[in-house]
Amino acid sequence: MSDLETLKDNLLAEVTAAGDEAAIEAVRVNALGKKGSISELLKTLGTMTPEERQTRGAAINALKTDIFAAITARKSDLKDAAIAERLARETVDISLPVRSSPAERGRIHPISQIIDEITAIFADMGFSIAEGPDIETDHYNFTALNFPEGHPAREMHDTFFFNPDANGERKVLRTHTSPVQIRTMEASSPPIRIIIPGKTYRQDSDATHSPMFHQVEGLVVDTKSNVANMRWILEEFCKTFFEVDDVTMRFRPSFFPFTEPSFEVDIQCDRSSGPIVKFGEGTDWMEILGCGMVHPNVLRAGGLDPDVYQGFAWGMGLDRIAMLKYGMPDLRNFFDADVRWMSHYGFRPLDMPTLFGGLSA
Ligand code: DAH
Repeated sequence: MSDLETLKDNLLAEVTAAGDEAAIEAVRVNALGKKGSISELLKTLGTMTPEERQTRGAAINALKTDIFAAITARKSDLKDAAIAERLARETVDISLPVRSSPAERGRIHPISQIIDEITAIFADMGFSIAEGPDIETDHYNFTALNFPEGHPAREMHDTFFFNPDANGERKVLRTHTSPVQIRTMEASSPPIRIIIPGKTYRQDSDATHSPMFHQVEGLVVDTKSNVANMRWILEEFCKTFFEVDDVTMRFRPSFFPFTEPSFEVDIQCDRSSGPIVKFGEGTDWMEILGCGMVHPNVLRAGGLDPDVYQGFAWGMGLDRIAMLKYGMPDLRNFFDADVRWMSHYGFRPLDMPTLFGGLSA
């Protein structure tokens, strides 16, 4: 057997023995790499006589071609085998039940849910969301909203006051979301159509009151908005929010310093079947919000000319509405961070409230 045939047999045996892609690559480098056995043979071509080159040179090249073909074929087989092995190893049994992930177990707090529901409803009517700070100045919380200095309405708010700062100014924890009306008027120009969800604070604590609670405020300002527009918006809101075809609402005259005229709004309901109140039917009334036409002094405080612009606003407590809509009897549980309460009353994170998919489905 010639030296070339021996080399060929040895190399082919190595090719067959190579068990994975790394091994076959090593065989290739040993044979065809820069210092590989075949490459070394090719280097001798230059020292040969033309006759030798014709026979031995051709034989070396033929060896090279054969070994290259064998390596290529083995490589491709090994690659296929590796893929097949990986597919077998990573097979997923899609008939197995899904293991519950943290995202699956987590729950959305009813207050966050209610805010998402309200946002979906008003976004559909072209409103955007505005926000403001929880720590407010006396100016934004009271004065700019037409509460005169020393007016008893300031006391009615059971305000949390901060100690006076270096300038003698006493900041407050905002007692309502109404200050954001002024901040929005200052920062933008009409037409304004916003809702303001947020935390509010008053010194009050029992089964239905918490010192920190939530409100949603609404504000519309343009040149023509009127009480009829406001009624329509609030009625549409109530129907959609309480997921009923019809609601009967009652607008009672009331007083707020920042609106004129002012109303309190009740909706018809049925309280006869325990903690879950039914809306749109029954003989009871429940107060759900305050509203009115924005007072000229408030427009002025927001930098708008009341002879040009007019608007309406409303404010609504969220916690009680959440209690009623979802039958949660004690407000204090809202803020206990009790996982058992959350898993009972909370909402699944991927069920986002939408008008087309359902608010609380
Ligand atoms: N800010 C009022 C409160 O907390 C609620 C309210 C009433 C807001 C009438 C308004 C409104 O914007 O027009 O008691």
